[in-house]
Amino acid sequence: MLYGEKNKEKLRSMAFGYGSKEKGSVIPKYRLNEESIDAEAAKALIENQLLDEGNSRLNMATFCQTYMEKQAVELMSETLDKNAIDKSEYPQTAELENRCVNILAHLWNAPKKSDYLGTSTVGSSEACMLAGMAMKFRWRNQAREKGMDVLTHRPNLVISAAYQICWEKFCVYWDVDLRVIPVTRKSLTLDLDHVMDYVDEYTIGIVGIQGTTYSGEYDDIKGLNALVDKYNKAHSDRPELVIHIDGACGGMFTPFTEPDLEWDFRLPNVVSISTSGHKYGLTYPGVGWVVWRDRKYLPEELIFEVSYLGGHMPTMAINFSRSASQIVGQYYNFLRFGRQGYSHIHLKTQEISSVIGDRIEHTGLFELYNHGSRMPIVCYKLKEKAKYKDGTPVVWNLYDLSDRLRMHGWQVPTYPLPDGAEEVTVQRIVCRADLTFNLAEAFVTDFRECLEDLKHAHVLCNEEKRGSYGFTHGGHSLGLVKKMVEEADAGKLFQPTESTKQLVKKAIEGASAIQDEFQELILTEKQHDLK
Ligand SMILES: Cc1ncc(COP(=O)(O)O)c(C=O)c1O
Repeated sequence: MLYGEKNKEKLRSMAFGYGSKEKGSVIPKYRLNEESIDAEAAKALIENQLLDEGNSRLNMATFCQTYMEKQAVELMSETLDKNAIDKSEYPQTAELENRCVNILAHLWNAPKKSDYLGTSTVGSSEACMLAGMAMKFRWRNQAREKGMDVLTHRPNLVISAAYQICWEKFCVYWDVDLRVIPVTRKSLTLDLDHVMDYVDEYTIGIVGIQGTTYSGEYDDIKGLNALVDKYNKAHSDRPELVIHIDGACGGMFTPFTEPDLEWDFRLPNVVSISTSGHKYGLTYPGVGWVVWRDRKYLPEELIFEVSYLGGHMPTMAINFSRSASQIVGQYYNFLRFGRQGYSHIHLKTQEISSVIGDRIEHTGLFELYNHGSRMPIVCYKLKEKAKYKDGTPVVWNLYDLSDRLRMHGWQVPTYPLPDGAEEVTVQRIVCRADLTFNLAEAFVTDFRECLEDLKHAHVLCNEEKRGSYGFTHGGHSLGLVKKMVEEADAGKLFQPTESTKQLVKKAIEGASAIQDEFQELILTEKQHDLK
């Protein structure tokens, strides 16, 4: 979120609470206070500020880790002061990062003799940026060699509409065209029947998503790999077409729950994989990882040297300084849980999500996109003309249900699906390792109670098509959407949705309206980064 003058609360100062030594004086909220205050008083003020906030354990919207063991938290607190980029000063921390990269490369089946490379990042977004840049630079080097026009013709990236916003950011920041393959009402994954229609010699790569943000479904990466094989054989005169796997959610889940599923470096066209350590890597935010199957897929122009024990060490990152504590936390998890521990934890989470999926299906009111039996995500829409078992018709919508669940403390997002199925509204429950059977049971009980309450409710607040319900973390780049509309108007291949077109047209009509409309877009258009 961008903050500024307009984001101030009406009350511009804070008062100290009962019992505080500083009672009576006030502290400004939006300016630096002139004098220091007592450490306990400062802590109490901030604790009070944070009181009225969701409970992270009841947050069914986020994929991000909301629990770590006491020992891990201690270790992480002890290492908060270490800067991950200072490899020379903290060579042992650097060694832990090195071990993590190697563990992941092994987990993702990097070929035995390959010269793989990888790094930690702040999260999947940074990891995807790095992977995207590597694809772009490698493509450009090859395109130049083949005498293609790399100056006036923009390269493109191909991905399904169920992408997370980081890919839109990548395309905007690094000047790449985003080619979006619509999803269908039936499946929210990469459409293999059409994906190759979007590819040409200017394609830097195709992104496969191992666990989409919208529904947790897996793209068919093996099928995609076969298509890319065929393409490369038929087009040896073009830059090599490659696949990057966005494994933000599945990268550290699938290897433990479906070790035989081929989605990783076992497939030769998969050249890089990214993941969020803070999702199913079980570490607190923010840590992510990216690994390239071989050095040749990471052009040297992108590698920078930092000093390391009197010598130099190659790095690739967008950020420079950040705490090393998340890397330490990640390594703790690897060491502590091992393969068996991760499998045990993830399979248990899967079992719990399947139970929730079953119970929700059993109500007879919902159609499920994801039952929770693979990625532990339960995603569903209301059946058309849904009726309770006693024949009472459903007159509420999923936004109303989100509100009801919120009354019990549960945060469950409702949002429209992406391009191709944008008229469908779904609700999604993300199950994480800290969702115990007892907590899940409490959720299901509250869920059923909410359905009963809604059956008898007379006042409904939410109109259908309200947009995304809370807990989202971004939206579209207005500039990019405008460009898509212009291109679509000019008869080019990629069509934005009608709602996007209308909103953007309105925004273009009045310059002053653009900011407001941008907010509207964020709220009402498809949301790519529901966590
Ligand atoms: C598929 C996918 N890619 C990328 C991201 C971005 O991840 P991060 O929050 O780690 O930057 C997410 C986040 O939910 C995601 O689901």
